[in-house]
Amino acid sequence: MKEKVRIAVLVSGGGTNLQALIDAKLKYGDIRIVISNRKDAYALTRAENAGIKGVYIPKEGFEETLIDILNEEGIEVIVLAGFLRILSADFCRRYDERIINIHPSLIPSFCGDGFYGLRVHEAALAKGVKVSGATVHFVNEIPDGGRIIAQKAVEVKDDDTPETLQKRIMQEAEWVILPQATDKVCKEIMENERV
Ligand code: GRF
Repeated sequence: MKEKVRIAVLVSGGGTNLQALIDAKLKYGDIRIVISNRKDAYALTRAENAGIKGVYIPKEGFEETLIDILNEEGIEVIVLAGFLRILSADFCRRYDERIINIHPSLIPSFCGDGFYGLRVHEAALAKGVKVSGATVHFVNEIPDGGRIIAQKAVEVKDDDTPETLQKRIMQEAEWVILPQATDKVCKEIMENERV
């Protein structure tokens, strides 16, 4: 039996996408560690409840510490699941096509600088789109600019608020496609890189 691909999940907040990854019981990936840039992130409690190692990294020297931990753990894939910190271009190049992010719109709509959290859904409603959704993509030095791995469309309803739209997109799209896309990437690594 080939060893599963070693994953680190980076978080900053509530961690519902982390929970979806845990609950999915990935076939090809193994979540070895959850790393947060916020000490009080509920995502760290979710990790603990699932028996997964959780680590908080403070702001000072964040990326240096992160790289050390990733190396120690032999991490091959990094999943950003509600991680609210921009990673440097150097870091992105080091892990080219190995960093996965979930964005709550259909890229290239409502993405890039400044589009995070409720702002994404406010912009979608202001534009009057009838369909929005979520995108899983690789991370490069351009915000939300890396290769798209998976997308799922979600209906926008006439009486939606940013909050209701956000919730529907999470339930119907994000929690579905993030585990699927992560496993797909891990499967490819397993097939191409494991002997
Ligand atoms: C999600 O909407 C995700 O698309 C975005 O940040 C949010 C994280 O939520 N990148 P959670 O911490 O996974 O609950």
